[in-house]
This record gives sequence, structure tokens and C-alpha cells, in this order.
Amino acid sequence: MPKKPFTIAVSGKGGTGKTTVSSLLIRSFITLGETPVLAVDADPNANLHEALGITVRETMGSMREEAFTRTIPPGMNRHDYVRYRFRQALVESEGFDLIAMGRPEGSGCYCFANDLLSECMGELERDYHFIVIDTEAGMEHIARGTIGRPDLLLIVSDPGARGLRTIARIREIATQLGLENEKIQIVFNRFRSGTAPVDIGAGHPIAVIPEDPAIEQADLSATPVSLVPPESPAWVAVRELAERIREMAQERV
Ligand SMILES: Nc1ncnc2c1ncn2[C@@H]1O[C@H](COP(=O)(O)OP(=O)(O)OP(=O)(O)O)[C@@H](O)[C@H]1O
Ligand SMILES: [Mg+2]
Repeated sequence: MPKKPFTIAVSGKGGTGKTTVSSLLIRSFITLGETPVLAVDADPNANLHEALGITVRETMGSMREEAFTRTIPPGMNRHDYVRYRFRQALVESEGFDLIAMGRPEGSGCYCFANDLLSECMGELERDYHFIVIDTEAGMEHIARGTIGRPDLLLIVSDPGARGLRTIARIREIATQLGLENEKIQIVFNRFRSGTAPVDIGAGHPIAVIPEDPAIEQADLSATPVSLVPPESPAWVAVRELAERIREMAQERV
């Protein structure tokens, strides 16, 4: 029987490196042979695909909209149609698949479509070892429970005071939603040597990712961040994080 996939949600305040960490994590799992990985871009301003160097034609948001406004092709019911479109929205790439959630629905009730979508996701999930969700900045997804209850919630942050306050808020909301403390882990990103991570009270960060000129360069030259040289410091740190997560997944009962 296939094992349930291990779901990692990557959260944090704006611009802290959620997409960078997500894409490097996905690449790391591929390097570790943990394929296929499901990449979920849950940020309405979808850009995880760019970080991974692929293109996305449509999102679940646009599909959900259409499933209710368009005439369904003859011989198909809405249920089949949504399934069919879902398969179309899923981009298959080497070692990973990607689905972009797109914009949240506008007015009107989409509960029916949403139920179908989660059903489609449920069916899909069986194929994957790891699911990496790049979430929208802030706490929306977590507060609304849209990303469900992940096996691991990573909070990407800088070690500054504001970052720490955001960590505390995300942790509080996640805890209220029933996520156990050990499933909430901090990732310090853009760490510069000489600046020791401050004491975060609730244990040590699971990873400290250095400031890496190769990441910045990739951004400047519009190169997919996941194509930075494997020996570049940020990627080395994320690979170690991926190994650690793999151990967590193996220990999971
Ligand atoms: N370790 C790093 N070293 C150098 N630059 C980095 C590092 N991590 C991220 N960056 C840069 O920081 C910027 C923001 O990163 P990223 O887009 O991953 O953040 P984000 O949290 O996903 O942002 P948003 O909230 O807008 O979705 C990018 O320009 C990226 O290249
Ligand atoms: Mg992002």
C-alpha cells in the first residue's frame, strides 16, 4: 500500500525566502531520489514555477471559475469536467509535478467545486512522497485552514525582531488549529556570518540558510533559482534540511 505523502507548508512574512526555500527543497528531494514531489503554489501571485523553471498554463482558481460559468462539454458532468481540468492544470516535470492554486474565489458559493478539488487532490496525493506548499505571505492560509494540517510547517524568517514577532504569531495560530509544537519549525534565511541567530525561545531553528550571492544572481539574471550550482551555500543548507525532513518522514508512524 502506498505511504501517505509527507506535507510541508512553507510560511513566513513577505520576501523572507519562502519561494526560494520551497524550490530548493523540491530540488533537494529530487536529488535524494524522493520522487515524484508535488509542488503546490498556494500564493495568488504564483511564482514558484519560475523558481523551478517551468511554465503554468492555468490555475485551480481559473478552473474553478470556469467549471461553473462555462457550458460543460456534452457527455461530461461537472464532476468529470473538474477532474479533467484538474489533470490539465497539473504541470508534469522531471521529478516533480506542480499545481498552482491561483486567486481565491470571488463571490458566490463554490463549495461543490472545492469539495471536488480536494477530492482530486486526495486522489493525486497517493502518488507523492513529499508535497511542498509555497504559501502566501502572512497568516491567511494557516488561519483559514486552506492548506489543511501539514506534517511540517516551516516558518521562514530573518532573525530580526519583526521576524521573530511574525514567527510567534504564525506559531500561535497554527497551534490554535491543532498543529503540534514539534511540527512547527523555524528556518532562518539570508543569514550573514558574524550575526548569530538570536535566541528564539522555543528551541533551535531546524535550518539556518546563509545569504548566498548565487541566489541573488539567479534573481537578477532571471534564471530559475533551483538551477544555482549544487555547491552554493544556500543549496547545501537546504539539502541538509531535506535530509532532516526525510528522517522525520521515516520516523512518522
Ligand atoms: N539565501 C538567500 N541568499 C540571497 N538572496 C536570497 C536568499 N533567499 C532569498 N533571497 C532573495 O530574496 C528575495 C525574496 O525571496 P523569495 O521570493 O523566495 O521570498 P518570498 O518569501 O517567497 O517572497 P513573497 O512573500 O513575495 O512570496 C529574492 O530576490 C531572492 O532572490
Ligand atoms: Mg514567494
